[in-house]
Amino acid sequence: MALSQGDAGAIDPSAKLAPVRILHVSDLHIEEGFSEVPAGELLNKRLVGLMSLWLKRRRLWRDAKPKVAALAKAASAWDVDLVIATGDFTALGTARELEIAKEVVRPLFDRPLGAVCLPGNHDLYVRDGGLERFEATFADALHDDLGGRAFPRVRFVGETIAIVTFESARPNPEFWLSSGRVPEAQLEALHALGRSGVLGDRRVFLATHYAPFVEDGGPDHARHGLENAEALVEALRPFGEAIFLHGHVHRRYHVRVPHSDLWFFCAGSSTMQRREGFWIFDVDGREVRATPGRFVDGKPTLEPEHAVFLR
Ligand SMILES: [Fe+2]
Ligand SMILES: [Fe+2]
Repeated sequence: MALSQGDAGAIDPSAKLAPVRILHVSDLHIEEGFSEVPAGELLNKRLVGLMSLWLKRRRLWRDAKPKVAALAKAASAWDVDLVIATGDFTALGTARELEIAKEVVRPLFDRPLGAVCLPGNHDLYVRDGGLERFEATFADALHDDLGGRAFPRVRFVGETIAIVTFESARPNPEFWLSSGRVPEAQLEALHALGRSGVLGDRRVFLATHYAPFVEDGGPDHARHGLENAEALVEALRPFGEAIFLHGHVHRRYHVRVPHSDLWFFCAGSSTMQRREGFWIFDVDGREVRATPGRFVDGKPTLEPEHAVFLR
């Protein structure tokens, strides 16, 4: 049985069986403002190419705005404490789009423990200061509890959870390329963080935009995938059985691979026509219940029958 946000008691009577509930969304692709991008920002062959490519696909996200509003309502109904958004808020990451995306996600990010986010490749297309503009726009969701001012960042949730975010998106030189790469310095920083003991015995969530693996456990294809996925998995080894959240692949799934202890969860695109996806994580120390969600008749709906239990 699937339960939607309108059902009293939300997921089930024991609803929030754990002290902390996290909603993972991704690839919201809010296209509002896309057509208002000033011509000056498009005087660049790459952006024109991207824009035409995106115009062909835009119908897939035409309802992104009301869907984000529906997710915000559901987050309240489901008592979500915190939201994690793994990038691709926009189409081209122009100033106007980011401004609009910020307004659209405000109710969704307005949770008791706030929100955590990071940029996707679509948020970084404008090379001149794309990352700085993104960081200025979503500053409230980019706070680092260890005092750092750049990725990787750490957010502590009480004494029991740590959320570690890092970058994997970058502007690509050619518009038909959408591959990503975790910068070497961040691989080193992640490895050092995992070994440092700073996170104690907290349940660790690792979050970035790109997918190290698709649902069959293999790599994503070269033009779209994460170039240094294997190096990343190696760097993350000290984190043990951490929960790895990502998007970029517009399909919701979870996967494990034989050579890593990590649990990989892809939210897909939470707003893409007929493919909307998201996850709810109920976290109680080491015990975690991951419940997948999708849209049914325009409503965010959970599928408790497909929940995954992590221990
Ligand atoms: Fe995307
Ligand atoms: Fe992406």
